[in-house]
Amino acid sequence: MAFINDEEINDIRQKADIVDIISEYLPLTQKGRNFVSICPFHDDHSPSMVVSREKQIFNCFTCRTGGNVFSFIMKYENVSFVESVQIVAKKIGYNLKQVNFIEETDSKFKEEFEIMNMAHKYFLNNLNTDYGLDAKKYLKDRGIDEAIIKEFKLGLAINETDSLYKLLTNKKYGIDAIENVGLVNKNGLDVYDVFNNRIMIPLENASGKVVGFTGRIFHDEDMAKYINTKETVIYHKSNILFNYYNAKNAIRNDGKVIVVEGNMDAIKVSASGVKNIVALMGVAISKEQVSILKKLRVPVILMLDNDTAGLDATVKLGDILIDNGVDTLIVRLSGAKDPDEYIRRFGIDAFKDNINHAIKYMDFKLEYLKSNKNLNNMEDLIVYVKSVLKGINNKDELTRDLVISKLSNDYKIDKELLKRELVSEVKLEKTVVEEVKEVKKKTKYEIATSKILFAMMMDAKYITIYRNKLGYFKDKIDRIIASEIVYYNNMNKGINIADFTSYIMNNEETYNRVLNIISDNENFDVELDEFNLCIDAILCALKKDEIKVLKSKIAKEMDINKKVEMLSRLTEIKKEV
Ligand code: UTP
Ligand code: MN
Repeated sequence: MAFINDEEINDIRQKADIVDIISEYLPLTQKGRNFVSICPFHDDHSPSMVVSREKQIFNCFTCRTGGNVFSFIMKYENVSFVESVQIVAKKIGYNLKQVNFIEETDSKFKEEFEIMNMAHKYFLNNLNTDYGLDAKKYLKDRGIDEAIIKEFKLGLAINETDSLYKLLTNKKYGIDAIENVGLVNKNGLDVYDVFNNRIMIPLENASGKVVGFTGRIFHDEDMAKYINTKETVIYHKSNILFNYYNAKNAIRNDGKVIVVEGNMDAIKVSASGVKNIVALMGVAISKEQVSILKKLRVPVILMLDNDTAGLDATVKLGDILIDNGVDTLIVRLSGAKDPDEYIRRFGIDAFKDNINHAIKYMDFKLEYLKSNKNLNNMEDLIVYVKSVLKGINNKDELTRDLVISKLSNDYKIDKELLKRELVSEVKLEKTVVEEVKEVKKKTKYEIATSKILFAMMMDAKYITIYRNKLGYFKDKIDRIIASEIVYYNNMNKGINIADFTSYIMNNEETYNRVLNIISDNENFDVELDEFNLCIDAILCALKKDEIKVLKSKIAKEMDINKKVEMLSRLTEIKKEV
């Protein structure tokens, strides 16, 4: 765990208002003493996230996400605890000490990140030496000037087989560590740099750390145009949307995100002033990338290359995004191969015009299915209508209804007939039935445990009652949490749930349990009567357990005196229950 002292953490937590911070991400509406919003962590349609200004916590009762301001940032921004503290500190203008130190230590992969940083600095420097003249000329010809080079921190791998390797070993990093981050390859005893003679584009993770590189050739060579870092412990291609870290704020401000194929496209578009752009680095989309886009909760404008691969992928990715509840719009550029070329040819204003005229994915798809068909021809029309129906059979009801109405209007086909046809298509296709998450019903014991622990975090008076009347839970994690609460309250002469949540954060198991407890308790207020009922419920459950144990012991007991003794104890407990 990193080094930010608890006082500072609590200080930041107390100065930051959770309602203000979450408002920067989501529109909050006041409802009674609390605030509500559509939850960003599941496919929510009516507001199910509740934020309490009074208690400084939030929860979503539906997807069981909750916690304090740091928990929200960790989850939303996909960052570590320490990073979440830094982010909140920055937002409220709090001057955190030792930020660098924190960043360096806050990671299982400290050495890996260090090596990547070192390599990146080396590449940056190379580009500014004589070695970089050719590469700079190439970039300049592509319209990438010094400012853009700086903004995207572009570098150069020089034309030598092991210069980076030598540098890193001189810095005392081991071969294995360097190989692990994908910067060198081993061949017997020889070790080679993976990147030679390439312009280096750093790839950053969601918190802006360099985790990999893409290297582009800059001479006409008979070689792979791009080489990317292989999968490593810190680089997972499927988790990365190129330029996400830089674009995040612009995406939020503009309320939309443009998605393109190539890194160079993202660089060019961003350099032209349109900052809300990310690149897939190819034509595929991973489920992690879908989930990152979904979490942004803004419409996605999909703008893939103007070639067959780009067109096919537009349909495929559009379907995936729509099926995941992402509002998806399409731009098909014409007159140029990709966004980079388009801007070079027609300028940024023409590009923006395309964005403003993006069309809804469904409209795009209806048009797409028409291509190469003559809809005046009866056979073609039938094929077309069937393909449209096939394409919507697993879509939501509204989409299905809108599309059917449109077909019915456009081609004068009876709506009911289309509906019947759709039903038979559905049967034919055996549509993927959406996974119905089975919500396991909680037992009385579980509900009571959760409420008791929640109350103890809210108000110290409940800690006293717990200690006097109960003092025990069956589950080990719950016992640990209870004793942590008792300890925290003693040390701090009081307790509040938001600070306790940060306190417990360094143990993943207990932290996750605390978050679950928070999301179990939709109602932030706990009444004394209710609390006492919960204590009784637990005592009763514990006694029932004891009865079970006793009964089996009695059955096995041979000594008649002991048996009688146990039987009388049994009658006693039975009376209590
Ligand atoms: P493109 O071939 O469309 O390249 O590949 P591009 O983006 O237009 O690149 P420039 O303009 O020629 O520099 C689209 C994306 O597919 C990946 C890269 O991420 C690229 O941006 N790709 C392409 C590779 O990973 N390796 C390759 O050899 C080619
Ligand atoms: Mn290109």
